[in-house]
Amino acid sequence: MKTQLKLSMAVLAACFSFSAAAADAAKSMRGLDVAAPDPVAAEKSYVGKRPGTQQPVARTFSTQPPVIPHAVENFDEINLETNQCLDCHGAANYQKKKAPKVGDSHFVNRDGQKLDEASAGRHNCVQCHVPQVDAPPLVDSDFKGEPYVKKTDAATAAAAKKTKKN
Ligand code: HEC
Ligand code: HEC
Repeated sequence: MKTQLKLSMAVLAACFSFSAAAADAAKSMRGLDVAAPDPVAAEKSYVGKRPGTQQPVARTFSTQPPVIPHAVENFDEINLETNQCLDCHGAANYQKKKAPKVGDSHFVNRDGQKLDEASAGRHNCVQCHVPQVDAPPLVDSDFKGEPYVKKTDAATAAAAKKTKKN
């Protein structure tokens, strides 16, 4: 019994000294002391200007929600009564506003039914589409997805792929 107690004390002591050593060696990825609070990041303004004057930003993979190339200040109100994004991008107005229509997938509800207007499930546009700032990426990524093929070229691209395989 006595030796068993001694042994468990020794194991406990070993654990403590090990964790103390680990704590000494810990290096935070933020480059700050582990316990130090995060400094507030400097606010950056969006790079986009008035809609209608921007070039769309190239998509990096086929299912990527395109990023917002234009400014969103003053017309990003999205609530129960209004959605200013849809004022330009919705099926009813996009032609008049010379804006790209919301994606085809936005007109299908979660039960797979086709709708005339964008599905309520897509109401919060900025949940997926984000405006741009000029900032270095916080973490590197070498992710490579299926390349994006513009809708009109899809058939051509599929044909090209088929020919390549043969
Ligand atoms: C005043 C009209 C207007 C409003 C309001 C507006 N947009 Fe746009 N949007 C445009 C136009 C025009 C373009 C085409 C690129 C350009 O000219 O800036 C565009 C481009 C985009 C694109 C790029 C599409 C692609 O294929 O790359 C996305 C995404 C987008 N808008 C999302 C939004 C979201 C989300 C909101 C609300 C926060 C919004 N827009 C509000 C007019 C508008
Ligand atoms: C759940 C995520 C999600 C939400 C919410 C969402 N989108 Fe999209 N959007 C996407 C994806 C993914 C694509 C690209 C594939 C596609 O066209 O469906 C896209 C495509 C688009 C495009 C380009 C269409 C094209 O034909 O190239 C526009 C414009 C757009 N969305 C606007 C909007 C607006 C405005 C809203 C809010 C009413 C909205 N989206 C809500 C994910 C989303």
